[in-house]
Amino acid sequence: MSIATESIEFFDYHPKPADFYQDVVEGLKKEQKTIPPKYFYDQKGSQIFDNICMLPEYYQTRTELNILRDNADEISTCIGAEALLIEPGSGSSHKVRTLLDDVKPDVYLPMDISKKHLIQAAQNISNDYPWLDVYASCIDFTDEMHIPAKLAEIENKQVFFPGSSIGNFEPRSAIGFLENVARMIESDGGLLIGVDLKKDENVLHAAYNDKQGVTADFNTNLLERINRELDADFDLGGFSHDAFYNDEIGRIEMHLVSDKNQQVNIGDHCIEFEKGESIHTENSYKYTVDEFSQLAKNAGLTLNRYWTDSSQLFSVQYYTL
Ligand code: AVJ
Repeated sequence: MSIATESIEFFDYHPKPADFYQDVVEGLKKEQKTIPPKYFYDQKGSQIFDNICMLPEYYQTRTELNILRDNADEISTCIGAEALLIEPGSGSSHKVRTLLDDVKPDVYLPMDISKKHLIQAAQNISNDYPWLDVYASCIDFTDEMHIPAKLAEIENKQVFFPGSSIGNFEPRSAIGFLENVARMIESDGGLLIGVDLKKDENVLHAAYNDKQGVTADFNTNLLERINRELDADFDLGGFSHDAFYNDEIGRIEMHLVSDKNQQVNIGDHCIEFEKGESIHTENSYKYTVDEFSQLAKNAGLTLNRYWTDSSQLFSVQYYTL
C-alpha cells in the first residue's frame, strides 16, 4: 500500500471517488437547487481560483500569508519541537512553505484527495526542504483522516488547515471535522487554522463580486464543466453570477441565477428553471474570533492564541485540547 517514490513515502487510502453526475442531479432536484462547491475545482476551476487569490478585492490569501509570515516566530513556539505537521487538503502545499523554516517540523504529512497533485506537491516540498521527512496520504479529509501507522507514535501532532476552507463547511459539519482533528492530534498536539472574519459588508461583497468578473467566471465554470463531463446542455449565457452576504446567517452565498424560464438536459434528466430561480453553489461562513472559538469548543478544542492583520480582515488561530 505504501509506495516509496524518489523522495517521499506515499500512502494510498483509496478515497471513494465522488459521483459528480449523481451529486449534480440530486442537487438540482431539490426545492432550492444546489451543487456542492467541491466541484468548482477541475483543472480550469483551480486555475481561475488561483487568479481569484491575486485579485485586489480578494484580501484572504495575501492577508493570511502575511499573518503567517509576520508571526512565524510565535507560531513555531506554539507548534513546538519534533512535530509531525499534518495538512488536510494540502493541494499544492504552497502556504506551508511560509512556516517550514521557522517551525522546523520533523515530518510533513500532506493529505489530499487528488493523488497526482498530492505526490507532485509532496515531492516538490521534499526537494526544496531536504532536511524534512515528507510523507503523503491520499484521503478525503471530509471522510476519515489516516495517519500511517509508523507516524502514529510521534507525540507532537500538529494540524495545519489554512485558507479558511473551514468556511465552506456548514457549522455542524465544521464541528464534525474539528472533532476528527481533535481525535487525531490527541492530548499533546494542536491545530493551526485560518479563519476569515466578519467585517464590513462592502468589503465582503467586493471580494466575491470583483470588477474583472473572475469570481463570476469561477462560478459559471461549474456549468461549463457539467456540460462537458455530464452530457448536459446548460446555456452558459442564460445564468448570472450572484454573490451576497447573508447577514442573518453570517455567510457569503454564491448562486447562479436563471435569466429566463428554461429547461436543461443532464444525461437522462430534464431540469426546469423559472426565471429568477437559482442554483446555490457555495457558502462561505464568516466568524468573529469569539464565535469560532465557541464552535471549536464543541469539538473539545480550546483557543490558545490567535493572530490577525491590522485591519482585522483575517485570522490565524491556534487550538489545543
Ligand atoms: C476556498 C472556500 C476559502 O470561500 O472565499 C473564493 C472559495 N469562492 N471566491 C472562499 C471562493 C469564491 C474560497 N474558499
